[in-house]
Amino acid sequence: MKDKSSRPALADTNANIGAYDKILLGFPIWWYTAPTIINTFLESYDFSGKKIILFATSGGSGIGGCVDALKDSVLQSAEIKAGRMLNGRLLSDELKKWVETL
Ligand SMILES: Cc1cc2nc3c(=O)[nH]c(=O)nc-3n(C[C@H](O)[C@H](O)[C@H](O)COP(=O)(O)O)c2cc1C
Repeated sequence: MKDKSSRPALADTNANIGAYDKILLGFPIWWYTAPTIINTFLESYDFSGKKIILFATSGGSGIGGCVDALKDSVLQSAEIKAGRMLNGRLLSDELKKWVETL
């Protein structure tokens, strides 16, 4: 969606967010940023005190601008940061090592 103010509806609104402190949130890059359903997701739950780490796939664009596009969708007490792109083939060991650093 090019309309950054659009908020497509979630199919599932019962995610048990309260059970997690750290959340890895992934999406394909659309129009250089996260699809706006990711804003819907962040606005639909209470992420206060939680750490949200972003990962993404794309045709070449990076993850750099995604935090800016998403940070207003969470309370200030939530930490949201860019993780990494996961394009291409990735060995499970490499993925595991990365996740352990978070
Ligand atoms: C509507 C739309 C917009 C996209 N915009 C971008 C973009 O700005 N930059 C980019 O590198 N890739 C863009 N892509 C490519 C997707 O990021 C890529 O297809 C996706 O990450 C790979 O997932 P898939 O294999 O499920 O398609 C776009 C794809 C779609 C459908």
